Amino acid sequence: MSTTPATTDTTAAGGHLVDVEHLRKSFGDHEVLRDISFEIRSGSATCIIGPSGSGKTTILRSLNALEIPDSGVVRIGDLTVDFAGITPGRGGRLPRAQREQLAAYRAQSGMVFQSHNLFPHKTVLENVTEGPVIVQGENAAEAAGRARDLLDQVGLSAHVDKYPHQLSGGQQQRVGIARALALRPKLVLFDEPTSALDPELVGDVLGVMKDLAAQGWTMAIVTHELRFAQQVADQVLFIDGGVIVEQGDPRQVIGDPQHERTRTFLRRVMEPI
Ligand SMILES: Nc1ncnc2c1ncn2[C@@H]1O[C@H](COP(=O)(O)OP(=O)(O)O)[C@@H](O)[C@H]1O
Ligand SMILES: [Mg+2]
Repeated sequence: MSTTPATTDTTAAGGHLVDVEHLRKSFGDHEVLRDISFEIRSGSATCIIGPSGSGKTTILRSLNALEIPDSGVVRIGDLTVDFAGITPGRGGRLPRAQREQLAAYRAQSGMVFQSHNLFPHKTVLENVTEGPVIVQGENAAEAAGRARDLLDQVGLSAHVDKYPHQLSGGQQQRVGIARALALRPKLVLFDEPTSALDPELVGDVLGVMKDLAAQGWTMAIVTHELRFAQQVADQVLFIDGGVIVEQGDPRQVIGDPQHERTRTFLRRVMEPI
């Protein structure tokens, strides 16, 4: 039973799992994403950093179709969506073909949120098997086997039969990670996965994410943990005001930033008052 990342045989030449081209999104007359383009290599970790309100969450939500960009093209694996063509019909509802296209697109990625939203009345194991069994129709025994392997991988094999309230915040967040991975996404999205945790619990969750990166999961991580980003990221995107101000190797973007906006942000994050 494999808990390793999905194979990347659908990846286009160049080894990119994800291509984002010219993404734009406005809320009312506030343009939140202004022409965002980047790529994610298969098996790599991309950390997205930037001030509050800069558009980081909107980028992740766009990759998971929780938000529908106004325009731009995103390819994840062998699925490409041109968002300019995704437009509600009369009554504000998307046509059926577009809904199906978005559902398939959404299934390419799995999201780990700041707070985990586990089902309180289900055990840890049931929380992880729920998606594969109910949503994907996987055989229950097979799903349970994979869930146990995933829970082992995130260090929770002793807790599979417990309920969420019996776990620490960090353990709950690791269940959230196992739950996302159980759906076999090609891309795993993390939106500030440690921001809601007590400081002493942050390290365990970051450790798990570091292991996942080493195993070759393709990950996009919004985080303020710059040391983690320096250690784990293959690529860092610095976002400010809805644009990518700077992107590249963490040694460059965090270690030797070229733009004043990046330097100002890094100073603020590194020296909190
Ligand atoms: N559903 C929404 N409706 C209106 N404004 C939104 C919505 N979601 C986000 N925004 C605005 O878009 C901007 C970017 O938000 P977000 O992507 O959450 O930023 P970040 O994650 O970098 O803090 C913010 O100004 C936020 O208030
Ligand atoms: Mg956010």
